[in-house]
Order: sequence, then C-alpha cells, then structure tokens
Amino acid sequence: MRVEKQQKNCGGAKIMKTNNNDTLKMKFLDIELNSPYIIGSGPISYGAPGIIRAHNAGAGAVVTKTIRDNPAENPYPHIAKNNKNSLINAEKWADLPGEDYINKEIPEAVKAGAVVIASIGHTPEEVDNWIQGVVNAGARMVELVSYQQETMLDMVEKAVKLVDVPVIVKLSPNWPDPIGTAKASVKRGAAAITAMDSIGPVLRVDINTGRPVVAGQGGRGWLTGSAIRPIAQAMVADLKAELSVPVIGLGGVIKAEDAIEMMMIGADAVGICSTLIINGIGHLTNLQENLIEFINTNGYKHVSELIGLSKKYLNQQEKREKFKFNFNLDKCIDCQKCVIGCSYKARKLNSGKMELDNDLCRYCGYCASVCPTDALEITEEVGKWDIQHGLI
Ligand SMILES: Cc1cc2nc3c(=O)[nH]c(=O)nc-3n(C[C@H](O)[C@H](O)[C@H](O)COP(=O)(O)O)c2cc1C
Repeated sequence: MRVEKQQKNCGGAKIMKTNNNDTLKMKFLDIELNSPYIIGSGPISYGAPGIIRAHNAGAGAVVTKTIRDNPAENPYPHIAKNNKNSLINAEKWADLPGEDYINKEIPEAVKAGAVVIASIGHTPEEVDNWIQGVVNAGARMVELVSYQQETMLDMVEKAVKLVDVPVIVKLSPNWPDPIGTAKASVKRGAAAITAMDSIGPVLRVDINTGRPVVAGQGGRGWLTGSAIRPIAQAMVADLKAELSVPVIGLGGVIKAEDAIEMMMIGADAVGICSTLIINGIGHLTNLQENLIEFINTNGYKHVSELIGLSKKYLNQQEKREKFKFNFNLDKCIDCQKCVIGCSYKARKLNSGKMELDNDLCRYCGYCASVCPTDALEITEEVGKWDIQHGLI
C-alpha cells in the first residue's frame, strides 16, 4: 500500500541543500506562502526581529504573539521542558503594547517580506480595539484566540464586519466543544481554522526542590509539543470531515515526518511553535529539506499532493479480521523490543529465529509498532513468514 511505504521511506531522509524551487510554495486562502510551515503564536514571534528570523529561515507565515489591551506580566519562570520534545509553559499573551505591533513590529516584519498573521485575544472588545490597526499595519490575516469558548463567536462576528482580510479561528482543546465552535464560527464568516492551542492546566514539580517547574497560578501551566500531536491530528481530521475551509494543523509537529503525517490527515498548512523553541530557528531548514526529500523520494511533485492522503482510512469501521505479521530476518537487529513488549509472552526471538505462539497472541500489534527497523511488520497481505510458520 503506497501510503504505508511512504511513511517508512521518510525516516532515512538526508539533509540536502535549501529549497529554492517551488516544491513547498503554496497558496493558503489565496495568499502566497514560501512553505506550508506557519509559525504559531508564541515567543518566537514576540516582535519584528523574531518574525523576520522565521521568515528568513523559510516560514510560510508567522502568527504574532497574541495582542491584548494590556501587556502581559508573566510569572518567572514560565517555560520549562516536559520531556525531550514537549514543553510546559505559563506564558500569557504579548508583553508588548498593542500600539507597538501596529506602529513598529508588524510594519517592520512586513517590510522584510514576512507574511504576518496578527493574533488577537481574548474578547470582542479587544477585537474592536486592535483589528483595524493590525490590518492597516500590514497583517495579511487575523487569528482570533480565546480562553473561553463563549466569547469566540462574538469575536468572529465583530472581526468579519471590521476587516476584509481572512479571519482564522484558533481552537482550544480545553473548550467543551471545539468542533461545534469551529462550525458556528465558519457560519459567521471565519475563513479558516487553526487546530489547536496548548492543553491544560497541567502540573509538574522538580523532585529536587519540590517546586513546580513553572511559576503560574498554583504551579499550573499548558502542555505543548509532541505529547499533544495525536490530539491535534484527531481534531484536524474531524474538522476536515465536517467543514470545507482550510485548516492549519498546529500541535506537536517536531520534525518533517510529523508535518507529513499532519498533512496526510488533512491539514492544509502546518503550524509549529515548540519545535523552534526546543531546536532553534535553524531547525526550519531541516523541516523544509526533509519534507522535500520525502516528496522527491516518493515520486510526488508538490507538497500539496500529501494533503488528505489518509482521508479514505479515517472513517473506517472497527476492524475485526486478524492481520498477518511479516518478519524479515535481514532487517532484524536483535534488539528484542518485540519480545520485551509482548504482555502475553507470545513472542520469542532466539538466534535470529522468530517464533509466535498463536494461542497466546492477541494481535494487539504493539510488537510490530515498536520494531525500530521494520523487520517485523503488520501486513494486510499474507507474509512469507506466516506461511513458513503455518499461521495461515
Ligand atoms: C511558550 C509558549 C507561548 C505561547 N503563547 C501563545 C500566545 O500568546 N497565543 C496563542 O494563541 N498561542 C500561544 N501558544 C500556543 C502555540 O501557538 C501553539 O498553539 C501550541 O504551542 C501548540 O503547538 P506546538 O505543539 O507546535 O508548540 C504558546 C505556546 C508556547 C509554547
């Protein structure tokens, strides 16, 4: 099956020279983007210098920190690592006044060639106060964000009356009904949806000090990065099934393979935030080059061909037929992960000989999913190994 094969080919993608062809160039809401990577609202886009750095590194567009009536006063510290590819933050909205974005940050970034999306939160009154200013300053789109689901629809209504640029609604996974709110927002004129914001509240403490890792109220913060990507992807799939507007898939994309997965599920553009905090702005080069490598290796011509490739599998009925395992000894590195990970002790791997006790095996599939070299695979077709071992 082609899609399965593509995902496997991606792992070995090598770094190549920066793309200056058109493979990644795309249109989002009729606006030309240099790549599908849209930098999500966060510390990278605090002001013009950060937005310009992201633009020069190949970002398709950059969403500003969220502009509000009063600059944020953040607790110290307010960003910490959760694990290798995930963060906890207690950072609020922009710590610069809205006037600074209108008079300096947005115009300077636009002058440098960046496609700027202005983020405005969190009330209809604040939309009223800032939206025309940021658009006059050069923002090509506006993204609305709110902690409260109830305020979003009024914010959309106000925004679409006041400006002609596309209005994007950012969904929060912490709302009771993000998908319902997206649908109602589109009815009121929202042109696209971003899925999604950080998840929380969450809590971690440092075991050496007993203190929370971020200094927000009660030590609580918000989770971002790889830990949240499957949630964002489920939201993207739901949105694409229910709506026809473009969706920015934002949440947990760390590397090019993640972006490919996000697009296969249906995202029209890929948001990134934590990965650039963790890996630095230079990581945008890897994100682009590895994406191009995947496109070239798998016989595609343009990034847009990846969008929605998995769609046909996303409303499948629960599967009840047992699958087949395929084992390729040449690829096996004898790491024993498949054996260790079998809760039922159905697998044995001795001196290159793979054995499966069919009576004990529950076909959970974990053994194949944990194989680092794809020596052990799940296949819909009958594998040689199954025949040899009398499993069919
Ligand atoms: C330190 C930090 C600050 C953030 N600030 C904002 C913000 O001001 N406005 C906003 O809409 N989202 C903000 N976000 C959320 C991100 O835009 C994004 O929705 C979230 O981090 C998920 O994407 P990721 O997993 O790629 O980081 C922030 C995220 C982080 C990590």
